[in-house]
Amino acid sequence: MPVSAEEFRQGMRRLGGAVNIVTAASGDLWAGLTATAVTSLSAEPPRLLACINRQGATYDIVSKGRTLAINVLGCAHQALAMRFAGLSGEPETERFSDGEWETSVTGAPLLRDALVAFDCRVESILDAGSHAIVIGNIEAVQVRPGDVEDPLCYIDGRWATLAPFE
Ligand SMILES: Cc1cc2nc3c(=O)[nH]c(=O)nc-3n(C[C@H](O)[C@H](O)[C@H](O)COP(=O)(O)O)c2cc1C
Repeated sequence: MPVSAEEFRQGMRRLGGAVNIVTAASGDLWAGLTATAVTSLSAEPPRLLACINRQGATYDIVSKGRTLAINVLGCAHQALAMRFAGLSGEPETERFSDGEWETSVTGAPLLRDALVAFDCRVESILDAGSHAIVIGNIEAVQVRPGDVEDPLCYIDGRWATLAPFE
């Protein structure tokens, strides 16, 4: 019996992860979404990947502009994460009206107080079903100074954080 989409979702609820805002620019247009499907890929050359729904506005801008930024969030960004997931009731066009956004090398929007922001150019896009695997070449890394406090995570439908062992 094939696994249903509902079984897939139920299972994936247990796969907790760090929460990011994935952004992209194409000319003057910006787009972004909240994503947990983000992974380190290669140190040499420096690469990461994000899995992005091919039906959405963000995928459209990623594939046209060939830019990709990964903004890793802290707990202080929970409201922003909800906004970029379409859960705040704000229209999609208003997503960037909250938070301090700036650009660096590629033009993709970087969140000034993200725990870290990776500014990438798209190396390749692999269709993988409903989502695409987008591989980015990391062109700049913006690490927020100071300790990492309260990374924002998501598990079993709830916002959470990591509690390191003492
Ligand atoms: C915690 C969380 C994690 C998510 N992870 C992803 C993800 O990895 N990839 C993805 O395409 N959508 C993910 N989503 C859903 C998108 O954030 C949401 O569908 C968004 O509105 C899509 O925006 P777009 O239409 O501009 O592309 C996630 C949502 C939440 C709440």
